[in-house]
Amino acid sequence: MKKNSQTIKLAFSTAIMGVLLAGFSACGKKDANSPGVEFMPDMYRSPSLEYYSVHTVDGDTINNAMKPVAGTVARGYIPYAYPNTPEGYEAAGLNLHNPLSADNKAQWEAEGEVLYSKFCIHCHGATGGGDGKVGGKLPGPPPAYNGPLKNLPEGKIFHSITYGKNSMGSHASQLTQEERWKLVYFVQKLQGPKEVAVDSTKVAAPEKAKK
Ligand code: HEC
Repeated sequence: MKKNSQTIKLAFSTAIMGVLLAGFSACGKKDANSPGVEFMPDMYRSPSLEYYSVHTVDGDTINNAMKPVAGTVARGYIPYAYPNTPEGYEAAGLNLHNPLSADNKAQWEAEGEVLYSKFCIHCHGATGGGDGKVGGKLPGPPPAYNGPLKNLPEGKIFHSITYGKNSMGSHASQLTQEERWKLVYFVQKLQGPKEVAVDSTKVAAPEKAKK
């Protein structure tokens, strides 16, 4: 008698399991991508709010986020005084100098090389010859650092990394000023020793053609 009731219980629970399993697999078969029944739709589909928008919740007006006070600058931001103009470029070439001490030159060069291998090598090439995988395919490939750019002063190197030049884009948003100056040290290493100190203010005006 006891045995019988156990068998019935077992058969009963097996039947329930079967029904449940059938139920689950039926759900799955309907649509594999369906999330199933949504008990609390608000939690699945929260209303999307635009940044800095003003909206109302239960009668209260709410600012989604407060705008920064006028004139706010990002932490660590250092303004760059030379404008992105031919005059700014020349002025940077004459007056702008590397603030990173030359005493640690080897360290800056090593750190600059790491940055160079991430941000510049694909255009300028490993030795700065302008033969990087991307650079070589540009309509105007980058000139070699130890060729036409050999005497480019540090201020102009920094200026061009900051604003970009023709097909080279600006790197101001990817690299801090300190990182850009480390790159200047490394670019100078690739330039090699300067041939002649060129003072652009003292370049003689070309002679007028004789009649
Ligand atoms: C998309 C390719 C590209 C990338 C990336 C690139 N450059 Fe250039 N770069 C060029 C080209 C092209 C020129 C030549 C621009 C011209 O004079 O027309 C150039 C020119 C330069 C010059 C000479 C600027 C001058 O004033 O004449 C320097 C210095 C320089 N790049 C450094 C860098 C450094 C450092 C990086 C990495 C942070 C870098 N470039 C990343 C393509 C690139």
